[in-house]
Amino acid sequence: MNSPHPPAADTPSPEPTGTPARPASSRRRRKASGALVIAAGLLGAGAIATAVVPEPQVATAQQDQAALIAEGKSIYDVACITCHGQNLQGVDDRGPSLVGTGAGATYFQVHSGRMPAANNEAQAQRKKPRYNEHQIMALAAYVDLHGGGPALVTDPDGSIAQGSLRGASGNSTAEEVARGSELFRLNCASCHNFTGRGGALSAGKYAPTLDPANEQEIYQAMLTGPQNMPKFSDRQLTPDEKKDIIAFVKNSDTKVSPGGYALGGLGPVTEGVAIWLVGIVALIGATLWIGSRS
Ligand code: HEC
Ligand code: HEC
Repeated sequence: MNSPHPPAADTPSPEPTGTPARPASSRRRRKASGALVIAAGLLGAGAIATAVVPEPQVATAQQDQAALIAEGKSIYDVACITCHGQNLQGVDDRGPSLVGTGAGATYFQVHSGRMPAANNEAQAQRKKPRYNEHQIMALAAYVDLHGGGPALVTDPDGSIAQGSLRGASGNSTAEEVARGSELFRLNCASCHNFTGRGGALSAGKYAPTLDPANEQEIYQAMLTGPQNMPKFSDRQLTPDEKKDIIAFVKNSDTKVSPGGYALGGLGPVTEGVAIWLVGIVALIGATLWIGSRS
């Protein structure tokens, strides 16, 4: 099947006729300048390449984001659409509009297992989350497309901040915990109880215990105010104050006593008995002392 004729390139091209043979020195100069042109070309190509390299990375980041949003939409269409609607506008008697609730609310609701809610729940319960971190980020990205809203707190590398939110991992100072304790008492204790153990609200609703919530969930609960909880904007509680509160919540389970002496945590009865015993002993002592004097 090969062509019977040798390829044209293989045949040595004859010297163009009519041009006189150039002197050797001029030929060397031409070679040198040719090398220069090649070198310059390579340098130029290198410069262009370095200038161009970040471009594909930006493109991939955008593609990654688009893929994440598409994945979020596909989960939404299966698990959320019946209650929150096709354009996140909400459905009467089923679920509120999610427009403008943002990545923060989505993370809080789905990561704490509240969403997807079961039908006819009076109050969405914390349960084991149905989706993994990646899927939750996908849902958050999709909801965030519709009107933005409170964002997640991220570390400089873009990952979700847990460490920098001053949690139990030992990265909070006693001073931060003390400030957080005071802020918690003023802003949260009325519903969640001073120890963060939760408490009943009216109409069968309740403020849950804060123990199982992770740092990002606590932050987002404050920022997005789930259900009967008020929103605490960054004007009401600055991001630093929110982090102090997190430091307190994450360190409170062992350190806080609601007052009085910690007599085995048995409460006022124990304390009353103790005071009564001390009083009786003092009374007997006094009686004996008076008796011995007379
Ligand atoms: C059975 C109905 C139902 C399903 C399914 C459901 N939700 Fe909800 N959702 C609700 C109701 C009702 C509320 C408001 C009451 C509450 O927060 O307890 C709510 C609240 C929310 C909020 C808080 C809105 C705000 O204003 O802060 C977010 C975010 C949310 N849902 C996201 C989702 C996502 C994401 C899914 C799918 C994974 C989902 N929901 C599935 C019923 C539902
Ligand atoms: C008016 C009462 C009220 C106040 C004040 C309040 N909360 Fe809440 N909080 C609630 C209710 C109700 C819920 C449950 C919401 C739900 O189930 O959707 C809740 C839920 C939470 C959760 C989620 C816990 C979980 O189970 O995942 C956290 C964290 C939280 N609150 C932190 C705080 C902090 C911190 C403050 C103070 C800055 C605060 N709350 C102030 C009523 C309140």
